[in-house]
Amino acid sequence: MEALADLYAVPQEHLDFRDTIRRIARERVAPRAAEIDENAEYPHDIRELFAEHDLFGLPFDEEHGGTGTGTLMLNMAIEEIAKVCASSALMLMVQELGTLPIRLFGSDELKDRFLPRCASGEWTPAFALSEPEAGSDPGGMITRAVRDGDEWVIDGTKNWITNLGIADFYVVFAVTDREVGHSHGITAFVVEADRPGFSVGKLEHKLGIRGSPTGQPIFDGVRVPAENLIGNEGEGFKVAMATLDHSRLGVAAQALGIAQGAADYAAAYAQERRQFDKPIAAFQAIAFKLADMETQCAAGRELLYKACAKVDRHEPDMGKYSAMAKLFCSDTAMSVTVEAVQVLGGYGYVKEYPVERYLRDAKITQIYEGTNEIQRLVISRSLSR
Ligand code: CAA
Repeated sequence: MEALADLYAVPQEHLDFRDTIRRIARERVAPRAAEIDENAEYPHDIRELFAEHDLFGLPFDEEHGGTGTGTLMLNMAIEEIAKVCASSALMLMVQELGTLPIRLFGSDELKDRFLPRCASGEWTPAFALSEPEAGSDPGGMITRAVRDGDEWVIDGTKNWITNLGIADFYVVFAVTDREVGHSHGITAFVVEADRPGFSVGKLEHKLGIRGSPTGQPIFDGVRVPAENLIGNEGEGFKVAMATLDHSRLGVAAQALGIAQGAADYAAAYAQERRQFDKPIAAFQAIAFKLADMETQCAAGRELLYKACAKVDRHEPDMGKYSAMAKLFCSDTAMSVTVEAVQVLGGYGYVKEYPVERYLRDAKITQIYEGTNEIQRLVISRSLSR
């Protein structure tokens, strides 16, 4: 019985912290969400708020200044924030994504140098893997790093990088050995944003997550010391893949938050909105839609929580589960937000109401940190092993 209770009970401290985050999200983040989206504004004030409440400590162990509360708590927080503002949730997600390579593979010196200042929220990281010609296939990247004495010299342009221009440092993946072939000669480096040769290139105008800057960082002969190399030379592809095995859960949690936020809004609206002398929730056409939306969210949450437990326990099938959670929750976000717009009808299609923003924000969750086609590839490959 104890094992069963262990499987199904979320620790009380997690639920208490979730309630605190829910309150902060409702009272402080929700009122800013529409203008953050409208003005495509990076929300520095919300960032400070998260730092004040120790939310940036969630991805980190206590020895590096974090809360040491694990993957489930982090993703419960991401869900709560994404329920009201997906762009704000992304700040917390990238605080994890951009530091995971150091946490999982970095030297003690790199961990001590970078992690505590990220856990406090003072520093912001970025994860620079994709390139204009290498998205789903990062093994085909052309950014290169060449050793010169005790330094590495990095040249290349990355693409679709979250936190562009905001980040204090970039984890950059570069080819260090062309001879060993696709994906094997790649190495990961930390590149601080104030190094000569680094510049901020094109910033994208996006459909959703508009409060988060995305674009092309340019590395033009940027020199970093050998100590900035993460893990071993030639191990970069594995660093990236292992990072994504963890961080895809953040996308799942964000997607789930978007879906639940839209479902909650539509359900409340359907009680208020009257047509033919009744609340529209009294019509089966609407009531069954709302029932399906709620069911999809609940199913996604179960899969997400299970995948979080697997990551925290380092279970061998954690990559498969994190891909499944990301796939299911992001497809749920898309279908639920489309239905939420339908429940609101004409009001769903205009900016006065938040559901059109939820729909726009949902789309990226099927694309970033590996498209859903890539998630299906990861899952299907795991079946043949
Ligand atoms: N953990 C550790 N190692 C792994 C691994 C994992 N999960 N997956 C693969 N590897 C290793 C393999 O074991 C193999 O090593 P060996 O040859 O030594 O055995 C090596 O990596 C190559 O593996 P594959 O042959 O499977 O590689 P592949 O080229 O076929 O690619 C892929 C596999 C799953 C398609 C991978 O390319 C992939 O995940 N693509 C999607 C990339 C992605 O998610 N990009 C998102 C960018 S980040 C972002 O979006 C964030 C942002 O800021 C917006």
